[in-house]
Amino acid sequence: MPAIASNVIVESEAFRANRLAYLELIAQFRSLERKVRAASARADDKFRSRGQLPPRERINWLVDRDSPFLELSTLCGLGMHEDDGVDNVYGGGLIAGIGVVSGVRCLIAANDSGIKGGTAHPMGVEKAIRAQEIALHEKLPYVQLVESAGANLLLQAEMFVRGGATFANMARLSAAGIPVISIVHGSSTAGGAYQTGLADYVVMVRGRSKVFLAGPPLLKAATGEIAKDEALGGAELHCVTTGLGEYLAEDDADALRIGREVLAHLGWGGPTPRPPARAPLYDAEELLGVVPVDYRKPYDVREVIARIVDGSEFLDFKPGYGAETVCGHAAIEGRPVGLIGNNGPIDSAGASKAGQFIQLCCQAGLPIVFLQNTTGYLVGVAAETSGIVKHGSKMIQAVTNANVPKLTLQIGGSFGAGHYGMCGRSFGPRFLFSWPNARFAVMGGEQAAKVMTIVAEDAAAARGLPFDGDKVMAQGAKIVAGYDRQSTALFATARLWDDGLIDPRDSRATLAFCLETCAESDARVLRPNAFGVARF
Ligand code: COA
Repeated sequence: MPAIASNVIVESEAFRANRLAYLELIAQFRSLERKVRAASARADDKFRSRGQLPPRERINWLVDRDSPFLELSTLCGLGMHEDDGVDNVYGGGLIAGIGVVSGVRCLIAANDSGIKGGTAHPMGVEKAIRAQEIALHEKLPYVQLVESAGANLLLQAEMFVRGGATFANMARLSAAGIPVISIVHGSSTAGGAYQTGLADYVVMVRGRSKVFLAGPPLLKAATGEIAKDEALGGAELHCVTTGLGEYLAEDDADALRIGREVLAHLGWGGPTPRPPARAPLYDAEELLGVVPVDYRKPYDVREVIARIVDGSEFLDFKPGYGAETVCGHAAIEGRPVGLIGNNGPIDSAGASKAGQFIQLCCQAGLPIVFLQNTTGYLVGVAAETSGIVKHGSKMIQAVTNANVPKLTLQIGGSFGAGHYGMCGRSFGPRFLFSWPNARFAVMGGEQAAKVMTIVAEDAAAARGLPFDGDKVMAQGAKIVAGYDRQSTALFATARLWDDGLIDPRDSRATLAFCLETCAESDARVLRPNAFGVARF
């Protein structure tokens, strides 16, 4: 396969400026991630004084040493509800990711109980639901590290109904033949109790796990009854009397060891063998200089592909036809894929080409990687008369119904129906990560302001009224400011429009990990049952 020859001049001023801009964006989201850790770490002394491990350390003890952990949606809920986006950054109060436990790839979800007692926040609920969706789709055992004060009582209206899905999903996972394992580290009240009760395997910690529908404060408030937490729902009670717990551990570390043993005895099988792979010819470090932070500045997406795929080899598909939509074959860490990228708006030929290419990938069973950087489908009289609506629709149809793994990297602009055609969130990518420069909106803010000005002018003329230019200008400025604020990668990741932000330099490793996860999932045969496993 021919290798891409890069035309990038790494000594150029543009390269240097791009790199600096990326380093700043990366530093910004990394600093916010540190704030999530710091918010939880405020409770570290409390955990240690009780003989407990803090939540992140629990994950470290659970996973295989030196194995990768793909953390998801680290900045979930940023700037929303109790997360002020500045000093109190919570990551949704849940740590979720894919890791390897006793050689088994698992979805791990740990209540970040250093933050608000591990309560379920509205966005944390969404994060848990997405984690469960991944577990179900990727056939990953779902391991929960539970310590949760249940619903956040100050935000209940925003999560009570939706929160039910987290419990329904546990039943669905179990019925689908995917084991759910809960290691209960501490107090698990109300919703926290169902995180335990709906699991297939429960590990409890002597003297620390407390599982009850109503803990002492709620019980007192509800019935006036006064009870001590141990008598109401301690680990021994559940492992000896109620039968809710299967395994009684002496402390957190012991509980995690037992959790590892449970995984080891599932007979689940290890990862699929890694195919041989070659590194790209160009350094991933150069990605920061290659791609302008501003999506309006053109560049050749092949420069990105050259720094992601094996040997930088890329079999360009119809490069001369619909040339601004780039399609082609390559491999990532030895796994063959089809790639689709953008060098400009998607025109009719580009949409047809992409639609055809997607069908070919489906015919060959090849996963498709979308490198999304699009201002949308081409508009204008020429585009309309060439049938852009028809061609764009068939591309969207092909993307939606493609039955091979779809992975999306949002590497720049993500506007209008281009977001859909390039496999945005609603089009079922198995994983979707964003670079920190990504921008999402139905259109650019300035375009939206201009559209609304023209609409106002036309409306005034139609009614025979004078056009109030000042009012419309003020409205336009508001629209631009609103779009600017609402289209950033941070705004998007807070709302789970992606599965998290990544450093562009980690693109190849992230895609390879996701491809491996999909390959493993597609090869696995589950043993579903009708109701899920229950304790009789
Ligand atoms: N909703 C909102 N905030 C809650 C909460 C809840 N259900 N439960 C605890 N919090 C908050 C606390 O106000 C505190 O906030 P702060 O950090 O801003 O001070 C933080 O979470 C930690 O709580 P704290 O009680 O100090 O932690 P703890 O580890 O000593 O005790 C619990 C944890 C779970 C035993 C205790 O907080 C509790 O019993 N909470 C009520 C649980 C409940 O009845 N839930 C019903 C849900 S339907």
